[in-house]
Amino acid sequence: MTIGSQRMTLTVDEAGLALADPKTYADDRLLHESLALLRREAPIHRVDAPEYTPFWAVTKHEDILEVEREHQVFLNAPRPLLATTELDVMNQQRAEAGIALRTLVHMDDPDHRVFRAIGADWFRPRAMRALEPRVKELAKRYVDRMVELGGECDFAREIAVHFPLYVILSLLGLPESDFDRMLRLTQELFGGDDDEFQRGASNEEKLQVLLDFFAYFQGLTDARRQNPTDDLASAIANASIDGERLNDFDTASYYVIVATAGHDTTSATIAGGLHALIEHPAQLAQLRDAPGLMPLAVDEMIRWVTPVKEFMRTATRDYDLRDVTIRKGEAAMLSYPSANRDEDVFNDPFRFDVARDPNKHLAFGFGVHYCLGAALARIEVRAFFEELIPRLRSIELAGEPESIATTFVGGLKSLPIRYSVD
Ligand code: HEM
Repeated sequence: MTIGSQRMTLTVDEAGLALADPKTYADDRLLHESLALLRREAPIHRVDAPEYTPFWAVTKHEDILEVEREHQVFLNAPRPLLATTELDVMNQQRAEAGIALRTLVHMDDPDHRVFRAIGADWFRPRAMRALEPRVKELAKRYVDRMVELGGECDFAREIAVHFPLYVILSLLGLPESDFDRMLRLTQELFGGDDDEFQRGASNEEKLQVLLDFFAYFQGLTDARRQNPTDDLASAIANASIDGERLNDFDTASYYVIVATAGHDTTSATIAGGLHALIEHPAQLAQLRDAPGLMPLAVDEMIRWVTPVKEFMRTATRDYDLRDVTIRKGEAAMLSYPSANRDEDVFNDPFRFDVARDPNKHLAFGFGVHYCLGAALARIEVRAFFEELIPRLRSIELAGEPESIATTFVGGLKSLPIRYSVD
């Protein structure tokens, strides 16, 4: 098949193996060629990659929806994300010892329903709309920062990475002086496959990052239990289930999912969204001339970037999906970037179209685990571009963009731009 100007020839097995390699996700062309081939030739494909327990790659939109709908059959535990067998075993041992990260994405019902309710009230769309003025204020601060930077910057590193972190940490109620430390920890935790963000390659070093997170949030829990405030950290620290407070790991895990899930995903969307607008100047002009398109444009940026590359599910019984039987105990990888380029669902899926409607993308997942922060993410992306676009006089690339090598949450780590902003 041909994507761009060069022709690549991959076999189905190579395409499957590519999905387990973090570097693939830093190479858009290789990623999308692999996914398009799998969708066409082997939509449910068994991947047997060195160092990984075999899994099924699910690449069609329709099949991903079915797996997510069947949440009694396909559980998030014990393997919610793609990890090496060694790491899977270590996580399993820690889970059995009660000392593992246990966030919403590690849980299934009945626990998931109860834990999700703690945050759900906070994140419901109406509550999020009340936060809009604050988010807009922060968006203005970061567009002003672009002006201060004098017409040239690395947008991914200097702007996109900071704005969503700032939003989520201020909603959590953390002091501004701790933001840089949180940024580093988040990148170490989520950009863990990319050399640039790694503290160290060993599992012990990865674990140390988690322990640092826990230690930080333990202090926050203690403070909010002593002096409750009206921020999200207080809601988490003082939540109870059946009259009992959450244990320390569950409390810390809740902060971790909010601080991490709420950050890299949105910054990747903002950086990737701007990159798409630079590469498609007619779309940028259309959006500038018709600002009412912004809600559609925001969802198109989210579809285009699809920052969450996968989640996994494990079958509790044999299940027939399309032409394959997924056996009890086997895992399925839900490939969201693939769902969002599925030719059977999207008209001309490789076209970036700020007016795309309908846009039934799965970038936020679907069903009981549907992204808790979707309303907030949309508000953030919209606030940023509503502030930037009317003030933008010119913009172009000033260097080669670079993406993060990771199988989980990814996007641009570098986007050098030259611009004029009022
Ligand atoms: C779950 C994507 C922003 C918090 C998820 C899932 C995806 C996702 C794919 C898993 C859904 C599934 O398993 O079906 C995104 C994208 C974002 C974004 C693309 C930005 C564009 C946020 C923000 C927050 C957040 C801003 C919070 C501040 C969460 C939480 C979960 C989650 C707590 C776990 C929900 C559960 O398992 O019940 N997100 N997310 N996300 N997201 Fe997001």
